[in-house]
Amino acid sequence: MISIKMQSAIDDQVNAEIWSAYLYLSMASYFESKSLRGFANWMKIQWQEEVTHAIKFFDYVHSRGGKVSLKPISEVQLDWANPVAVFIDTLEHEQHVTQLINNLANIAVEEKDHATNSMLQWFISEQIEEEANAEQIITQLKMIGDNGYGLLMLDKELATRVFVDSTKGPVQ
Ligand code: FEO
Repeated sequence: MISIKMQSAIDDQVNAEIWSAYLYLSMASYFESKSLRGFANWMKIQWQEEVTHAIKFFDYVHSRGGKVSLKPISEVQLDWANPVAVFIDTLEHEQHVTQLINNLANIAVEEKDHATNSMLQWFISEQIEEEANAEQIITQLKMIGDNGYGLLMLDKELATRVFVDSTKGPVQ
């Protein structure tokens, strides 16, 4: 049985993951409005990934005999100055999520909850990839600068991203 303290902290994380999904859907909407459909595709896949993260926590709590309490989802930013500003926000958001996951791992250690700590290892690895993905696109966008052709080339590349539910797999 999961402790009340651990379960409450995971409830907050379910909310944070759903909020992340909502943020990325807002970013997808921004890119759709700029006719950058490849970027929008990348963000929609990011949205799907965040939903699977929330469900991984959700299923975990119930598998331990707990019950998730869903909380309201706060509003998200709706507009950005340019594509690089979107990805800088993405990176900063993922760095914040990494901190949240690390805090959960700290609680699991305090609670001597080895099962939760083991489950969190998947998220700790996932966050390395999440931050690296955003950093890579920021670097590419900075290289592109004001070059419209370069932006369209990157848009084509981001259009090829496909959703894969990696939450069922082992720690990378
Ligand atoms: Fe669920 Fe993007 O971290």
